[in-house]
Amino acid sequence: MRFSARTGWELGENMLTAKLRERRAHGGEILDLTASNPTACGFAYEPEVLLPPLAVPAALEYEPEPFGLERARTAVREYYRDHGADVPVDRICLTTSTSEAYSYLFRLLCDPGDEVLIARPSYPLFDFIARLDSVVLREYPLRYDPGASAASAHAWTIDFETLRGAINARTRAIVLVHPNNPTGNYVSDAEREELETLCARQELALIVDEVFLDYAIRADAKPRTFALGNGDALCFVLSGLSKVCALPQMKLSWIAARGPENMLPEALARLEVVADTFLSVNAPTQAALPSWLSRRHRLQDQIRERVRRNLALLDARLRGSHADRIALEGGWTAVLRVPREIQGQPFAEAALDRGVLVQPGEFYGLPEGRIVVSLLSPPDVWEHGLKLLPIG
Ligand SMILES: Cc1ncc(COP(=O)(O)O)c(C=O)c1O
Repeated sequence: MRFSARTGWELGENMLTAKLRERRAHGGEILDLTASNPTACGFAYEPEVLLPPLAVPAALEYEPEPFGLERARTAVREYYRDHGADVPVDRICLTTSTSEAYSYLFRLLCDPGDEVLIARPSYPLFDFIARLDSVVLREYPLRYDPGASAASAHAWTIDFETLRGAINARTRAIVLVHPNNPTGNYVSDAEREELETLCARQELALIVDEVFLDYAIRADAKPRTFALGNGDALCFVLSGLSKVCALPQMKLSWIAARGPENMLPEALARLEVVADTFLSVNAPTQAALPSWLSRRHRLQDQIRERVRRNLALLDARLRGSHADRIALEGGWTAVLRVPREIQGQPFAEAALDRGVLVQPGEFYGLPEGRIVVSLLSPPDVWEHGLKLLPIG
């Protein structure tokens, strides 16, 4: 049987996953510092609040609207109003996930072999989506300068020179994750302007993933959504329930589009056909969306509290150790600089021998000697796991 080259994945286990499987098979304890599924991290979900909005008569009606039901899209509009942006409902397209939103946009913008620019380090999911859509990813680096954070609050900056040099005749879009996963940096106003100008000039779309927008570490931070703005670039802002409401199981996300009048209507008309081809969002979830979004603060507050508490414990543990933490502005993850090897073993494998699971930074395109941990980790696992980390 012949399969597509797109699905010719390297399916073998790496050393870390093999070790993890063996440890599990032998009943060894695992303190998982990578847990990022909010439904499994001990937050108080309120079934009596979250479930009734699904069981309404509208959930039994089928209205095949390509962009999703207007009531649901109006709730997304309200979300952006709370962020100071007015996005008309006819510019909002619902999808089942942010991953699906990427896929819709890649299909809207790219022919097979066309290129999309993506930051490094970044979330590894994009490699899979791009490959499935026959799109080529090209990387632009983010530079880390911890000294800069004192002056501007932004320790990470986009390397615009390399970004510009990576643009060629096949480039169709720049992807920006805001704040980025796993580095947790928001872009500065100056970077935002430069990106918009670059995209407008080169006729590239700007795809901005804002799933973690609401999770700034500083309580007084007011991150600005890219839905705000009337730049000349065609811009698609992505977000969804998996992070905004901590409800990944409900499978609902969206694209909010803006752009110049000579591009936006055609982009929306084409996107509508993509969405109409799949009609993938289900009725009960759309019916419940207004209620869930209006109550998002109840889970968001718990998550922000967990992240800040875990971060404080982490920093206390790192003091005087052989590891330190990369500056962080938002999101659910932290990047640590650690010894590359412990007694000849890669750090993550040595940690697993002690029963602690962390992610090697290489999964995210970080250099060696970095690990990624989830700040959602339940408090007991976090405290115990941090103690056992081999960092002295
Ligand atoms: C930056 C980023 N974008 C998108 C996703 C996927 O979100 P969804 O569950 O909506 O597909 C994730 C998941 O962790 C993510 O970290």
